[in-house]
Amino acid sequence: MTFPDPAFRCVVCGGTRVLTDIVYRCECGGLLEVRHDLGALGARSAADWRALFESRWGAREGADASGVWRYREMVLPVAEDRIVSMPEGGTRLYRSSILERETGLDALYVKHEGENPTLSFKDRGMTAGVSWARRLGVGSVACASTGDTSASMAAYAAFAGIPAIVLLPENRVSVEQLSQAIAYGARTLALRTDFDGCMRLVAELTRARPVYLLNSMNSVRIEGQKSIVWETIQQLGWRVPDWIVVPVGNAGNISALGKGLAEWRELGLLGPGGRMPRLVGVQAVLANPFARSYRGGFAKRETLTAGPTVASAIAIGDPVSYDKAKAVVQWTGGVVTDATEDEILDAKALVDACGIAVCPNSATAVAGLRKLVADGTIRRGDLVAVVATAHGLKFSGTTVAYHEGRIASVTSSRANRPVSLPPSFEAILAEIEG
Ligand code: F0G
Repeated sequence: MTFPDPAFRCVVCGGTRVLTDIVYRCECGGLLEVRHDLGALGARSAADWRALFESRWGAREGADASGVWRYREMVLPVAEDRIVSMPEGGTRLYRSSILERETGLDALYVKHEGENPTLSFKDRGMTAGVSWARRLGVGSVACASTGDTSASMAAYAAFAGIPAIVLLPENRVSVEQLSQAIAYGARTLALRTDFDGCMRLVAELTRARPVYLLNSMNSVRIEGQKSIVWETIQQLGWRVPDWIVVPVGNAGNISALGKGLAEWRELGLLGPGGRMPRLVGVQAVLANPFARSYRGGFAKRETLTAGPTVASAIAIGDPVSYDKAKAVVQWTGGVVTDATEDEILDAKALVDACGIAVCPNSATAVAGLRKLVADGTIRRGDLVAVVATAHGLKFSGTTVAYHEGRIASVTSSRANRPVSLPPSFEAILAEIEG
């Protein structure tokens, strides 16, 4: 079965553009989204789609081996042999009884997107973005980043043989993240500004020069990222969570998850009643414009200068995808909350100590989840999926500093300090038994 190509559609004025146009925003200024012909896709029944996706699961090679391109008819029209895939996705869905006990939930799943090739969920968007860049035949790609988008873009561009330029806020990304961009060979520009400053400059660069923008403002990236929810639902044996919890920075990811859910509901893939999970976005208190907007009933789009949070990947004061994110939160009956530095790092220590290493940004989602369980919004019997967006090993400096109690103004209440001892058997016994 073949399906018509999707088109760009403006989320504000509804204006459309063909998908092969190089365009990131509508002429009216609104964000664009990729609009699939759901009527045509609906010609195949939900049962048949499920059977198809099940038949692809576990493939060793080719598009089916990717947790993004497994759903390719609903992603982007790229010929299978032209896809740039590592592959990505196929990440674990952890269920830890210890974590469930600690959070007071009967069914909590951690979708660990840190298990992607460059250790973050960005690889799902980047396989879409770079495959599309190759289809368009662009000469180079660029992004602004808090560290993970740049790592991912650098890797996928290198894999495809496309030159890459990344703009990073100097000294505000982890050394591991920085190491990724330079190791993969991207031209890496460290700017004395914050992420929002880098974002403005990369937008200007890609307007002025024929350089293809691969931030999530480019809605082809969203097409890859939405597969996080699809894969989670497939892994749950087609059960649909009551809540899906994610950290929010630039707000592209929560928008992507909402879009994926909307499409699957339309296609009947969320089950007979089409019951929607409620999306929860969590920010750091030090960088919480979206949470502030939510608390104000979304009457006003709040922006701010992001503070120096340990969740540095979400230190963003003016989320580009605000309009889309607001729509999906409203439409799913979602919630936006925020977490303090202590709450974030204690949540990270809790999840890490269950044997599941997450980054501070992922832990922000867990911290928000704990608050919503505590205030009764999320109930014990609810089925909850929390998205860990990147791996803990991208932030090992923060992890060690927390456990050694070296982060100013953070209590480190779950500290597990390494103990320095002389190399003697007696000293070891005295330490572990005494
Ligand atoms: N978690 C991690 C680990 C991230 O790197 C990001 C965003 C987010 C969550 C938030 O996702 O921006 O779509 O709301 N990182 C971007 C970057 C900004 O440049 O790597 P979002």
